[in-house]
Amino acid sequence: MRKIIIAIDGPAGAGKTSTAKLLATKLKYIYIDTGAMYRAVTLAYLNSKTELNNENLAKTISNISIELKPSDNGQITLLNGTDVSEEIRSVLVNQYVSPVSANEHVRKKLVDIQRKLGERKCCVMDGRDIGTIVFPNAELKIFLTASLEERTKRRWLEYNKQAGVNNLSFDEVSEQISSRDKYDSSRAVSPLYMADDAIKIDNSNITLEQQVEIIYNLAIDIIGN
Ligand code: DC
Repeated sequence: MRKIIIAIDGPAGAGKTSTAKLLATKLKYIYIDTGAMYRAVTLAYLNSKTELNNENLAKTISNISIELKPSDNGQITLLNGTDVSEEIRSVLVNQYVSPVSANEHVRKKLVDIQRKLGERKCCVMDGRDIGTIVFPNAELKIFLTASLEERTKRRWLEYNKQAGVNNLSFDEVSEQISSRDKYDSSRAVSPLYMADDAIKIDNSNITLEQQVEIIYNLAIDIIGN
């Protein structure tokens, strides 16, 4: 059986994380949520209570350790040894994660870690630049997307599950997502775009299970039975 890397990229709220998690379980592959790493750096930066600039971000990134560990739910994120899996999904982190992740020092360190994690292959990695920058030779590249309305609905539900943290209206969440898309797609370093050899899947009108099945079958075609 061939060992492969499956890269799943796409905009915010496209369902990359849920898809990657289920797919990895089905394939008995490891799952790596690179967005969680950028979120953990953002949390570390927010905790530093410093101004958002290149120097402070360089300092933040050089002083922290970030680890991803497999768990029953897929993966936990550790920042300096502390489990921050829930904290990194907060509204505040969502607000700051795009500018923090656009920083070249932050990207360099995280891309190095991601390449190490994928060295042995057999992994499903989701993010924005996995098929273009982190693993341009990934054997299977998926670009997941959905309408802005559908993506807003999903993020809105996610926020509502975090009791007490959703002070945003539906329109505000929509605005947050579309400005994050614009930021992520237009930044100078590793912007979000679809690799030429990626397969695009719009999941606005299909279920998570259907979508996982589609990608699973594509993977099995490459891996072999
Ligand atoms: O997938 P997510 O919403 O958890 O990602 C959070 C942010 O991290 C997203 O706005 C852009 C950034 N990100 C990135 O720049 N590169 C990646 N590989 C993954 C995420």
